[in-house]
Amino acid sequence: MRTLSLMAGLCLSAGAWAAVPASEPVQPIAPAEITDPAKVELGKQLFFDPRLSRSGFISCNSCHNLSMGGSDNLPTSIGHNWQEGPINSPTVLNSSLNLAQFWDGRAADLKEQAAGPIANPKEMAFTHILAIDVLRSIPQYRESFKQVYKVDEITLDAVTDAIAEFEKTLVTPNSRFDKWLKGDKNAITKVEQEGYDLFKSIGCVACHNGPALGGNSFQKMGLVEPYKTENPAEGVAGLTGKDADRFKFKVPTLRNVELTYPYFHDGAYWKLEDSVDVMARLQLGRKLSDDEIGKITAFLKTLTGDQPSFALPILPPSTNDTPIPKPFE
Ligand code: HEC
Ligand code: HEC
Repeated sequence: MRTLSLMAGLCLSAGAWAAVPASEPVQPIAPAEITDPAKVELGKQLFFDPRLSRSGFISCNSCHNLSMGGSDNLPTSIGHNWQEGPINSPTVLNSSLNLAQFWDGRAADLKEQAAGPIANPKEMAFTHILAIDVLRSIPQYRESFKQVYKVDEITLDAVTDAIAEFEKTLVTPNSRFDKWLKGDKNAITKVEQEGYDLFKSIGCVACHNGPALGGNSFQKMGLVEPYKTENPAEGVAGLTGKDADRFKFKVPTLRNVELTYPYFHDGAYWKLEDSVDVMARLQLGRKLSDDEIGKITAFLKTLTGDQPSFALPILPPSTNDTPIPKPFE
């Protein structure tokens, strides 16, 4: 029987079968499959629409800028009334691969997550009712929701569903590393491959594995040596109240990591080299040489894939009925 199934595997497609060895702890990112383009387009408009914020200034893209690796390149985000947020904005790229959303995993999925920032006083500072009122005042949105969701009234459920559907398209396939995984042995250099070998042999892969090299478990920050930070975030313990969960965070993806500086939940480290050094010391109890840090960093830079590239959506025009934004108050 065993031989038979092996044979079947070989017959399937020798190329694909041989290309990504099952023994690798990292798998390539699959391209997005768009089944409902109208829904994705609607979600894209909403993602870029600042009228979902009280100020009329802030959209999802303000803090998850798709031309900046899906993040804002700030230690902690700036939101409504220029308030500094409490934590670093994680990338939205490949976020559909996360086991849960937010650093502490408090939202189960992208749809549940999307309702958060609109009503967060420090982010978009709107209420859901008002945000929906704004959308309902715009005839073109009413028309799109009717077409896509077959509803007469725009609902929060449909809004967050459309945003999530758009976010699912924000994957970044075709990185050099993925090409290498699929069998193109010239896609990465010798130094980069040595970096990957180190990444595996010293144990980074214990937490950063799977297609996103992260996003699939919660782990303690400062496993061997405590992490020193001024940031008050407690991680999962903030939800469970359990001491064992203190400083447990969702392991961030390392896809596109060269673009998503500064690093860690407090955004305290701007250089990728420094964050590799911190990780090795705090998580693995290991002091790496500059040469080793350089190699691992070189490997991490091969994880940058195709960035979302599309024309910015044309936002449906407001009308006289559209509530007036409150930029300053
Ligand atoms: C003012 C800045 C800001 C705005 C505006 C904003 N976000 Fe975020 N976003 C953040 C921060 C900060 C976090 C992390 C919060 C936490 O984990 O506690 C986050 C987390 C997320 C996550 C989870 C990613 C992960 O890996 O856990 C997703 C997805 C996301 N935001 C999507 C959106 C969407 C969709 C919108 C618009 C409706 C939006 N964000 C608006 C700052 C912002
Ligand atoms: C025990 C699990 C674990 C191990 C082992 C581990 N990491 Fe991490 N890694 C994490 C967690 C958790 C975070 C988030 C910590 C935080 O933000 O406070 C993280 C964050 C990072 C970041 C910052 C990403 C970002 O977007 O902020 C980089 C880079 C990184 N790790 C690389 C590595 C490298 C390289 C190694 C091996 C030297 C390694 N990690 C080993 C769990 C681990």
